[in-house]
Amino acid sequence: MKKILALALVLALVFSMTACGSKKADKSAAAEKSTYVVATNPDFAPFEFIDEETQQPTGFDMDLIKAIAEDQGFTVEIQQMGFDAICGAVQNGVVDIGASGMSITPERQETVLFSDPYIEAGLSISVRDDDTTITSAEDLAGKVCAVQIGTTGAAKAQELFDAGILKEVKVLDKVDVVYQELKTKGADCVINDTPVTKAYISNAGGVKIVGDELVADSYGFAVAKDNTALAEKINKGLANLKANGKYDELIAKYF
Ligand code: ARG
Repeated sequence: MKKILALALVLALVFSMTACGSKKADKSAAAEKSTYVVATNPDFAPFEFIDEETQQPTGFDMDLIKAIAEDQGFTVEIQQMGFDAICGAVQNGVVDIGASGMSITPERQETVLFSDPYIEAGLSISVRDDDTTITSAEDLAGKVCAVQIGTTGAAKAQELFDAGILKEVKVLDKVDVVYQELKTKGADCVINDTPVTKAYISNAGGVKIVGDELVADSYGFAVAKDNTALAEKINKGLANLKANGKYDELIAKYF
């Protein structure tokens, strides 16, 4: 009788613990879900851009996060937003994952949690093809620079403006508009991520990279600070895709 009672007690305890645990998990932003909402700004080929046929976001980041999801047994729903809104949306739990060529920076790490880095990038200066006045960062004095809002390129340009080097920084919504501004001579240069600048050059042309890379960085997927479980899943998925060749397949497809 005593044994049965003790067993019942243990069972009740275990039950109450799991019930309590799951209740807590449900309330938390870090609750496990079968579908995660992924925010992206599809204006950043080859990482994320709108597929002309489907009119849906596609690109390296999109394929990679979908492959990670498949590997880890969840699905994703893509939500488009301005690049400057993504960190906040992740932080506030409006979306679960930011997948948008997002550079891992110490400032962003104060508000969001990044996955392991999934690719290396950096910032380059670009100018009009026929420009001979800017050949490196040394020639930026008195120049006007166009950048995309909320980006590391915008932060770098602001730094050069604050140091009294650039004359003006034009902060624009979209990368296409940034290059348009350069081509129509509303700006003398652009500071943008090197792989995206290279993709723009091979797709649209009319622009060239000058000088050395200003900074090197790497991209990560962003999740809410307390969502270590989701970050772990992403990291595991990424490691699996690197091991099974799928990651290299995507690199070959987009670069
Ligand atoms: N890597 C840069 C940053 O983190 C630019 C990213 C812009 N991404 C985009 N999808 N528009 O600030």
